[in-house]
Amino acid sequence: MNGNTFTEKVKEPYYYNNMVYITRRERFNAAHKLWVDDWDEEKNYAVFGKCANPNWHGHNYHLYITVKGKPDPMTGFVVDVKVLSKLIKKYIIEELDHKNLNLDSNLIAPNTQPTTENLVIAIWNRLAPHIENCQLHCVKLYETENIYAEYFGE
Ligand code: NI
Repeated sequence: MNGNTFTEKVKEPYYYNNMVYITRRERFNAAHKLWVDDWDEEKNYAVFGKCANPNWHGHNYHLYITVKGKPDPMTGFVVDVKVLSKLIKKYIIEELDHKNLNLDSNLIAPNTQPTTENLVIAIWNRLAPHIENCQLHCVKLYETENIYAEYFGE
């Protein structure tokens, strides 16, 4: 008998009670500008650097959505990653990809800087209500190769 044979009769597979974290990556490109109207140009550049460029600039964002749960006894899945991918695309990527984050999207709250830090919170808030049968654990967003922000819903 094949050791990996699996049927409904198996009630307690080995790994049904272990917490596992699984991550789906998606990508989007977007423009933004970080600026405070009350500050002069010198201070804006001092605080925000190139992100204060008046005529916008873009980032190639890499988004990592991690959910956690116990593997389903029958499928071995914490989540159907195809379904998770569709949710991320529908609620986040279509909303942000090739957009100007200051002007084109209402994902980030009004009067809120479109920083990577604020984006992870906004992405969490938009996505969390749609996650079923597992828990959203982390939204991680790379703004550049060397900078990323993480949000755990705290
Ligand atoms: Ni920037």
